[in-house]
Amino acid sequence: MEYVHYSVMSDEVLQYLTPPEQGEAILVDCTCGEGGHTYRFLSAHPNLSVIGLDRDASILEKARCRMEEFGDRFSPIHTSFDAFFKDSGAELYDLILFDLGISSYHYEESGRGFSFRKGEVLDMRLDTAEPISAMDVVNGYQEERLADLIYKYGEERYSRRIARAIVEERKLTKIKDSAQLAQIIYKAVPPAYRYGFLHPATKTFQAIRIEVNGELDRIEVALEGAIKALKRGGRIAVISFHSLEDRIVKWYFKGLDPEVIRILTKKPLVPSEAEREENPASRSAKLRVIEKL
Ligand SMILES: C[S@@+](CC[C@H](N)C(=O)[O-])C[C@H]1O[C@@H](n2cnc3c(N)ncnc32)[C@H](O)[C@@H]1O
Repeated sequence: MEYVHYSVMSDEVLQYLTPPEQGEAILVDCTCGEGGHTYRFLSAHPNLSVIGLDRDASILEKARCRMEEFGDRFSPIHTSFDAFFKDSGAELYDLILFDLGISSYHYEESGRGFSFRKGEVLDMRLDTAEPISAMDVVNGYQEERLADLIYKYGEERYSRRIARAIVEERKLTKIKDSAQLAQIIYKAVPPAYRYGFLHPATKTFQAIRIEVNGELDRIEVALEGAIKALKRGGRIAVISFHSLEDRIVKWYFKGLDPEVIRILTKKPLVPSEAEREENPASRSAKLRVIEKL
């Protein structure tokens, strides 16, 4: 089986999240994906078991196959991380990792319309059992609601033009395909914006994906539960990929009682130059780590 995702900042994550030398330890990989980080942890620490969570059952199946050599040291659970911690007891886990967002697998293999470079059905659900897809958002939301979410979750300055163009187009025909949506956005923005550093559909696609999966709303709930579920002396690491996520993590950590939680990264760590060169997609990553006292 082929694994397409490059695990971001994995050296730094492994440096900060080390299990105690004595006895058995448990790491919860809240965003297991294809299991790149998990694989490195299980290889590096024979006394460590990993509970791997993912909202996407198909990617978790890839992780399960990849981790077969570790036997019962790997336990995959198909769930959202906020739900997992809601039902979890206190002080159970030694280490917890969040690597937020989606995986290269979603763009390249899932066939669910995450990429504006492909002509795929506009779905964008991580968990395909969820009721609302990107097609529902794009064809069903009122213009103002669409514009607001593109602005808020995409930080897209042409959000109103883009929302207007979507609404005009859907009067003619249902928008069902990611390439069709990318083309509508491309035509809606000023010509100069079409040839910038980012493809003009990048931010709108990000915004719709965040809306469909309720991504931002889950982070704080999950962090709160994760802190409770963490053992004393345990650590939580969070990798975020855009300022919206990082802001939530940063302010949540800052608001915690310093007698209970120590922030180990006063400033977030960022990928090394070598990593950024090897994997340009990592350039926006930020890593924050806390320890429970
Ligand atoms: C950046 S990828 C993780 C890559 C992984 N760390 C690796 O090294 O291969 C993020 C993963 O988190 C999953 N995910 C996103 N939101 C989630 C949530 N609320 N609960 C559980 N998994 C989630 C996505 O489906 C995706 O597989």
